[in-house]
Amino acid sequence: MNHLNFKTSPNELNNKVILVTGAGAGIGRQAAITFAQLGAEVILLGKTTKKLEAVYDEIVNAGYKEPSIIPLDMKGATVKNYQDMASTILSEYGKLDGLLNNASTLGALSPLEHVDEGTFDDVMKVNFKATFYLTQALIPVLKKSPCASVVFTSSSVGKKGRAFWGAYGFSKFATEGLMQTMADEFENTSIRTNCINPGATKTSMRSKAYPSEDVSKLATPEQLMPSYVYLMADESKSVNGQSLDVQPK
Ligand SMILES: NC(=O)c1ccc[n+]([C@@H]2O[C@H](COP(=O)([O-])OP(=O)(O)OC[C@H]3O[C@@H](n4cnc5c(N)ncnc54)[C@H](OP(=O)(O)O)[C@@H]3O)[C@@H](O)[C@H]2O)c1
Repeated sequence: MNHLNFKTSPNELNNKVILVTGAGAGIGRQAAITFAQLGAEVILLGKTTKKLEAVYDEIVNAGYKEPSIIPLDMKGATVKNYQDMASTILSEYGKLDGLLNNASTLGALSPLEHVDEGTFDDVMKVNFKATFYLTQALIPVLKKSPCASVVFTSSSVGKKGRAFWGAYGFSKFATEGLMQTMADEFENTSIRTNCINPGATKTSMRSKAYPSEDVSKLATPEQLMPSYVYLMADESKSVNGQSLDVQPK
């Protein structure tokens, strides 16, 4: 058995507190609902409050544990915002067992000669810099968990450079580097750190990148969930410093 065909038990994530960034849409939305379905208390962080509230309603209406909502635009958020958020999570929950760094922005795909400073700064801020400071602020809270999992979201274009993917591709290479640094620094501790590469998945980000493709051939966020759950479950506690491609075969 590996992460692609991980069979979950109904209470796989019971007693776990898991924060998901970009929880209002796409893969993050599905991950938050799936984690809640398996018994986790989820903290939904994202830019658009309405979308977070819709996910909150879905979770509560399904009878899963009540989630929390953190509306935050990672483009404008400061280190202080993340520190305040971490203090609130510590006082409300006492620990954090899982952090799925999933929020990202695509920016504009273009030749390198046309990458403009505004797009470059926005993409690096949301996908990399803010993701780092959010994670950094949460380290003391992750340390309170007996078995914590930090997952960063990568991409194929962050493993091998691809023409026209510019700032988004750079941000994903940086994410892989951050993951490796953190995994090495926390090796042999209760915190493990890995990357997940969802691969081509039917979401609004994908349709922005490939507006005219046949979406019926794409994996759905739901199909990726065994790997996402695997990385959050104690089953993966010895997995550290890995970058997992999770496209279903
Ligand atoms: N879909 C694919 O084919 C694919 C392939 C490889 C990697 N990925 C990666 O998988 C992850 C999820 O992507 P997805 O396809 O699910 O994308 P998506 O549908 O566009 O969802 C992205 C999420 O990130 C949130 N977000 C964007 N900017 C934000 C900001 N400034 N502050 C806070 N939240 C922000 C969005 O919130 P709002 O909706 O409120 O804007 C949304 O919830 C990303 O890291 C992406 O790079 C996706």
